[in-house]
Amino acid sequence: MPIGSTEQHGPNGFIGTDAICAEMVARGMGDRLDALVAPTINVGMAQHHLGFPGSMALRPTTLIAVIADMVTSLAGHGFDRFFFVNGHGGNDATLNAAFSQIYGETSLGAVGHGRPPVRCKVQNWYQCDGVTAISAEQFGDAEGSHATPSEVSLAYFGYPERGEEVHGAEMAAGCAPTGAIYDAADYRRRFADGRIGSDPSLASVEVGEKLLTIAVAGIAEIYQDFLAAD
Ligand code: NI
Repeated sequence: MPIGSTEQHGPNGFIGTDAICAEMVARGMGDRLDALVAPTINVGMAQHHLGFPGSMALRPTTLIAVIADMVTSLAGHGFDRFFFVNGHGGNDATLNAAFSQIYGETSLGAVGHGRPPVRCKVQNWYQCDGVTAISAEQFGDAEGSHATPSEVSLAYFGYPERGEEVHGAEMAAGCAPTGAIYDAADYRRRFADGRIGSDPSLASVEVGEKLLTIAVAGIAEIYQDFLAAD
């Protein structure tokens, strides 16, 4: 189940970067393993990006309900393992809260009877070992934590013609500032062009292709371990 976000990604990244990246990796895994890939959840918990036009956000409670209802729908048809490929760190806490909500419904008896036991797991594509190694080797400290050259590269590989249109967008040289995330107005004030700690001018289609290959292979293994677990 690919899940991402629709939010600003700095001067030269697509607004759909997080959803695009998660979907590319999930589809790659689906092809490789003959696994079913659900529709992408492409709006996420991104309240802190709302100071930038075009960004969209679901409240945590809304996103919990979306995830739980999607999983419960499919569980009713007999699906029992749900593996989320996530492209947006802002979704982490909400995904885990949604899993607790889903397990709670089963444990409390509301929908659990006669259904297979459901298990959920999330893996952020950009945090598997092979990916972090390539990101470190290619970009070092310029990877930063938002509008990273790695995610921008992967999205460019998916949509190279669009990438050419925005790749050269003007931005201050070097890495953007870093810091904590609070609300949207505070974010806009401290991270004026949307980036956090990154220099996405380094992004390239070539690195994107490498990242996709390694992410699909690495996360396919994590997925298979999840399926095989006792
Ligand atoms: Ni992102």
